[in-house]
Amino acid sequence: MAQPVLKWAGGKRQLLDALYARFPDSFERYHEPFFGGGAVFFDLEPAAATVNDTNPRLVNFYEQVRDRPEALIERLREFRDPEADPDPDLAFAEETRRGKAVEQYYYQQRARFNERAYADDWPESGGDRLEEAALLLYLNRTCYNGLYRENSDGGFNVPIGRYADPDWVQAERVRTASRALAGTDIRNGDFSYVLDVADPGDLVYFDPPYEPMSPTADFAEYSAEGFGREDQQRLLDVASELDERGVSVVLSNSGVMYDRYDEAGFFVEREGATRAINSDASSRGEVDEIVATTVPPGERRGPDQAALDEY
Ligand SMILES: C[S@@+](CC[C@H](N)C(=O)[O-])C[C@H]1O[C@@H](n2cnc3c(N)ncnc32)[C@H](O)[C@@H]1O
Repeated sequence: MAQPVLKWAGGKRQLLDALYARFPDSFERYHEPFFGGGAVFFDLEPAAATVNDTNPRLVNFYEQVRDRPEALIERLREFRDPEADPDPDLAFAEETRRGKAVEQYYYQQRARFNERAYADDWPESGGDRLEEAALLLYLNRTCYNGLYRENSDGGFNVPIGRYADPDWVQAERVRTASRALAGTDIRNGDFSYVLDVADPGDLVYFDPPYEPMSPTADFAEYSAEGFGREDQQRLLDVASELDERGVSVVLSNSGVMYDRYDEAGFFVEREGATRAINSDASSRGEVDEIVATTVPPGERRGPDQAALDEY
């Protein structure tokens, strides 16, 4: 079993059992159009798959992990401790692009990352894609909370994190992830590509940026992610069309989408409510999440299947 290499907002490791319980017993190819950290893909390690994300830096990262894992690990080993003094040989030794004095090595790397990836000709120019990928993992593992967040002008803006002994090389995770991604088609576009690639008998798992619980909730993040109400509607239409074609669909989203999926004929259950029973009642509502599936109860895989086998 592989593990995610990057920490990513909305990672689904907590939800794996709930999702698997709604997967079909068997399927042909697996498709994950909102890949992010890929928690489900890496746990599942499907034999044949396509994955996709709109973030070009993320897609470049997974291509490098798949195609050049040892070179990536070697490049990662060249980085220094994030709190080390600035490197006098680096171009951004004096100040960041925003004119802030550089006091730590971390901010030099962040400035390099922003300077490089947002050059007008990236990624068409080819650039040093391996270095882009190494910088992304280095920053992801040394930044505050392992967040990936961008300014409105597209710069990665997360400050340095405080870690006793940060490990940004992640050699074994990179190697196992590389094996899991071998033969996987990695795409950089809109989720709707699945309409062109999914065949009857395939499984698609959609994990979109969640629709906010209230119109004002997380408004800034919501618009920065660029996934609005029309996109949610497009997603529902794509999911319904796949279902009509005999493709299995499983989807997670926030609780506000319950009725829409229910009315469209999906089997929908609230996951947040179930999980809150087992944890602190005061956290109830914080994880209001739904899982929708087109797979009828009798055709699902999941823990109940194993229990039945014993009889
Ligand atoms: C909730 S995250 C997925 C998290 C992932 N399941 C995990 O375990 O880490 C949603 C992802 O969708 C991507 N995204 C946003 N709009 C998209 C679109 N129109 N098509 C495809 N991906 C999109 C974002 O870049 C983000 O990585």
